[in-house]
Order: sequence, then C-alpha cells, then structure tokens
Amino acid sequence: MGKVTVITSGKGGTGKSTLAAGLGASLVRRGNRVLIIDCDAGMRGIDLMLGVSGELVFDIADIVNGNCMPANAIYPCKTVPELYILPAPQNVRDKVSPYIMRQLVRVLVKYYDHILIDCPAGIGMGFESAAAAAERALIVANAEPLSLRGCDKVRSKLRQMNIPEILLIINRFNERKFRRLNVFPDLDAVIDRAGARLLGIVPEDNAAAACAQRGEPVEGRMKAVYAFDRIAARLDGSDAPLEL
Ligand SMILES: Nc1ncnc2c1ncn2[C@@H]1O[C@H](COP(=O)(O)OP(=O)(O)O)[C@@H](O)[C@H]1O
Ligand SMILES: [Mg+2]
Repeated sequence: MGKVTVITSGKGGTGKSTLAAGLGASLVRRGNRVLIIDCDAGMRGIDLMLGVSGELVFDIADIVNGNCMPANAIYPCKTVPELYILPAPQNVRDKVSPYIMRQLVRVLVKYYDHILIDCPAGIGMGFESAAAAAERALIVANAEPLSLRGCDKVRSKLRQMNIPEILLIINRFNERKFRRLNVFPDLDAVIDRAGARLLGIVPEDNAAAACAQRGEPVEGRMKAVYAFDRIAARLDGSDAPLEL
C-alpha cells in the first residue's frame, strides 16, 4: 500500500509542480514506483514537466465519467521508468468531487509506493478534492511575505480535513536574496510564519527548473536535486540532514 501526499501552497507559483516532478524522480531513484496525479484542472503542467504532453488522450475526468479504465489515463514518463502521471482535466468544469477522488485513490494506491497529488494554489476550487485522499500534506512556500501569506489558511483547512501530517517545504531559497529582502531575521522566523514543521529547503536552481520546464528529467548534479533526494528520503521514513 502506497503513501499519499498532496502538494499544496497558499500563493500560486511557489514551485509545487516543479517539486512534484523532481520529488517523483528522486523517489523512483530510491526504488519506488510513483504516480503523480495532477489535480490542477485547467492549468495542468505535470504532463509538460514529465515530457508526455504530446501523447495525452485521457485524463482523470475520463476515468470518472466512464470514458476509459484508470490504466488508460495513466501515462509512463518516458525518461524516468517507474514514474507515472494521471493528468488533470483541461477543463475546470470537469473537476472531480472529493468523494470520487477518495474512491479513485483508494484503488490506485495498491499499485504504487507513493502517490503525489499536485494541487491548485490556495483553498479554492479543486483544493478539497486534491487533498481528500491524502494522509500527508506538503505546503510549499518561498521565503517571502507574499508567498507565506495564505499558508495559515491552507494549514487550518488541512487540519480541518484531519490530515495527520502537515509539513513545510521552503522552495527557491537564495540566501543572498533572503538577506537583501531583510524581512525575516532567519529561516526560523519563516518557519514560524508558515506554522508547519519543516521537511526540507530547496535552493533556487535555475538549471533544475529549466530541465523541468523542458520536460527533461530533474536529475544529476544539481543543487535542487540534492534537496529533492533528501526530501524523498524523509518521505520514505529515512533520516537525512535538513541543511542546504
Ligand atoms: N527551486 C527552484 N529554483 C528556481 N526556479 C524554480 C524553482 N522551483 C520552481 N521554480 C520556477 O518557479 C516557477 C513556478 O514553478 P511551478 O512549479 O510551476 O509552481 P506552481 O506549480 O506552484 O505554480 C516556474 O517558472 C519554475 O521554473
Ligand atoms: Mg503547478
């Protein structure tokens, strides 16, 4: 039985999809079979990041509407064996209810070691469905006041939904910019502001981000990849140092 983790954020653009793609690849390198479910209906992006956007025929709405079997809407990532994607519907009106999502994930979780669910930003449309089946939530934030705004709303909503583990990822961290911003004295202040236990810090890494954007695997000797690997180890229950 796999572990189901939803990837959320207060503000948009904090790096949820980049994290999902990178973490998915890291979990595979640890020997896991991983499914990423894209729940960002209308704004899907994971298919691009995993290099399968040209092949998509079916998506999650087709499973729910009985147009295809679940296996027909799950696509293997070409460059990372054992990494799979279930795409989000292109149309926001096709979003899936929380009840249906729970039923679907209950079936799928038998076939994977990890399911990562990429969620829309905030707590609006699609959030509850994306989080409905999760036993663990990651809140992705950047170390900036605007990005941290909304974290508390997401956190309290996740608590209301009885998600037992709520963990923070600080993404795109750049120490020089952080000091220049001069809003928080240190990272502890950022973690306090976000109000969740820290699982990992991912440095700003334009090379890794560009790989993800081009649909190339996020792997090799890149700063962000080391961070993804350590986060993957922690998600797998192993000890890995928190530092950058
Ligand atoms: N660690 C990182 N370093 C540099 N750029 C990043 C990093 N993570 C994400 N990005 C960039 O930030 C932007 C938003 O990322 P994305 O994953 O699409 O966010 P979200 O899914 O939360 O909207 C993209 O341009 C992406 O390439
Ligand atoms: Mg996204």
